[in-house]
Amino acid sequence: MSEITFVNNLYILRNDHISYILAVLPGGFLAHVHAGARLDSVNMDNLLRHAGLPAAADFTPKEGGLEWLPQAYPSFGLGDLREGALTVIAGDGTRAVDLRFVDAQVEDGKPALPGLPATFGDACKTLTVRLRDAHTGLEAMLYFTIFDDCDAVTRSARLVNAGDAPLTVTRAMSFCLDLPDHGYDLVTLSGGWARERAVVRRPLVPGEQGVSTRSGASSLQTSPFLALARPEVTEHAGEVYGLSLLYSGNFAATASVYQHGGTRALIGINDRDFAWRLEPGEAFQTPEAALVWSSEGLNGMSRAFHRLWNKHLLPQRWVNERRPILLNSWEAAYFDFDEEKLVSIAAAAKEAGAELFVMDDGWFGHRDDDFSSLGDWVPDPKKLPAGLGRLGERVRALGLQFGIWMEPEMVSPDSDLYRAHPEWAMQIPGREAVLGRHQLILDMSRADVQDFVIESVSRTLRDSGATYLKWDMNRNFSNIGSTALPPERQGELPHRYILGLYRTLDVLTKAFPDVLFEGCASGGGRFDAGMLYYTPQIWCSDDTDALCRCEIQYGTTLAFPPSTMGSHVSAVPNHQTARVTPMQARFAAALGGQFGYELDPRKLTDDDRAAMSAQTDYVRRTFETRMNGDFYRLLSPFEGNDTAWMTVNADRTEAVVTVIRSRSLPNTFPPLVRLAGLDPDAAYTVEETGERFTGRELMALGLCCPLPAGDAASLVYTLKA
Ligand code: DGJ
Repeated sequence: MSEITFVNNLYILRNDHISYILAVLPGGFLAHVHAGARLDSVNMDNLLRHAGLPAAADFTPKEGGLEWLPQAYPSFGLGDLREGALTVIAGDGTRAVDLRFVDAQVEDGKPALPGLPATFGDACKTLTVRLRDAHTGLEAMLYFTIFDDCDAVTRSARLVNAGDAPLTVTRAMSFCLDLPDHGYDLVTLSGGWARERAVVRRPLVPGEQGVSTRSGASSLQTSPFLALARPEVTEHAGEVYGLSLLYSGNFAATASVYQHGGTRALIGINDRDFAWRLEPGEAFQTPEAALVWSSEGLNGMSRAFHRLWNKHLLPQRWVNERRPILLNSWEAAYFDFDEEKLVSIAAAAKEAGAELFVMDDGWFGHRDDDFSSLGDWVPDPKKLPAGLGRLGERVRALGLQFGIWMEPEMVSPDSDLYRAHPEWAMQIPGREAVLGRHQLILDMSRADVQDFVIESVSRTLRDSGATYLKWDMNRNFSNIGSTALPPERQGELPHRYILGLYRTLDVLTKAFPDVLFEGCASGGGRFDAGMLYYTPQIWCSDDTDALCRCEIQYGTTLAFPPSTMGSHVSAVPNHQTARVTPMQARFAAALGGQFGYELDPRKLTDDDRAAMSAQTDYVRRTFETRMNGDFYRLLSPFEGNDTAWMTVNADRTEAVVTVIRSRSLPNTFPPLVRLAGLDPDAAYTVEETGERFTGRELMALGLCCPLPAGDAASLVYTLKA
């Protein structure tokens, strides 16, 4: 259970495991006191003394006091030299903001955030603190929510111009976490196309450090997440904070160490190239950010995130439903197909146990390559002479569901849409357009563009009867300008784009509640908790090579549950790396996420086709444990030659363990993998070998995994209590 109390000027938010504590100091300064292990009270003077400040009763910001004070929502320019959470340009051109406490209220549950994805649910309590800057009239409503059933606190801020002159917000972060020391490693996720979300861990050093993007999306290069882990933290033990932003656009996540030794972590919209004008009476809502805390290492942090997203973020319609095993046409056919070819691939897929056939890119306009037709969402009569309806029917007649690909936010210069509406593309009039993958980006900040997208997607879903939509997005922002915004509002475009995207997704997912939406952006280029509010799964990477997938999926699970990762078995040689790995390794890797295929089943050997049937049976049988169980990373591909992870179901009666060895090494021991999350007193049988062990032995000593010889050797073990 959670509760929020106000005692001795302290707001204490707590549940059975964690507390988050704020103090209202004389003068109305809102201090951040504690986040972490559950505490029922705190001696504020002790903390102030640690920060070199006088006791609470005598607190004054004079003499640079704010530079020392841990704060809930700090700004820059009144003595605190650290990065602030908020910068506002006032009517007189000055930038300092001095927010002081006005009042606060506590409510059950949590309010929705207008226009933005956010965690939801009744099992939580929310504190709203109102602060005010007397000079400008700016008010900040800070929302803090603590959950009954998750070791998480979420925050966001709503800025209201209650003054009488326009203001410009140039920085409005979602979460600020001031910690009293800097004895932490910073853990972030970084990479690029086909190499998304590699784990990067380094000690904090004095200065500012972190990750950010201005690509327009949460990006291929990094992820709106950071963790602060004590240096001794392992996957299984030690104290870790995790911060994640529920946002799909430009963000910054930083952890800065300042002269007195403390750490300030900030996460929110990237303030570079951001400016939002607030007329009197207008409000600006920041995205939500979530903080989790665990004393059980990085796995503990991840489980806290997984639980929070599963229970309070993902569309609940899909959380408990077994999702269909899909076969996607992209690597099977690319742009080269017609109705007959697709139906024959689908028939072979059905025979091998697939449940959903997805037609990827290339079905509309005259799209035989990626140079044209985005925006013209009408079937290519050459490829689909009887339209989407007949293809959908023929696929369904095979006993499969039908799914379809779209890239709704884009327009090709060679398209009827662009010829009719050149003003709908993001652009700076008078400047040459910079293309990405030969395409332009639709200006999703415009309501008419959003309505066009809603109408095109709705028509496509209706005409095809599709029950699955892959929503792709394949380029970075450039020429960032909108023909619909006045000059003083052009700095709002990247955020307005994301708000437009969210509105569009909101309308569509409500209008088609039974359609499974899968997010995608050149693979995992927009894999974030904002998108997951609408699309319960996201294509994790265009890289389907089994060994690369070990790294990509291992990293992704730091912040997101396995059930959110689209993960497919593809053909060999792999289309991204040219590597040949055994079918079993590709299966073992893909089992770690929402399972599917990305190949032409007609071209497989008989052995591989038989393997496919056995694989799909196994996927169905173990779905609940793999996708809804507790997930544990066991051996990291970033630290050694072996990758291992496992999931355990809720009552600890079934577990699935996956081990993959990258390079075959002669004359070495097979891995003895220490398992986790089992019932120590239960006896488990390994289904594949018939051997029996106690949970205690498997966790203390480990399970010997005699991998076959050869590179990319793998084993999948099923444990039954
Ligand atoms: C990028 C995606 O990540 C791929 O899976 C595929 O859908 C292509 N786009 C199609 O253009």
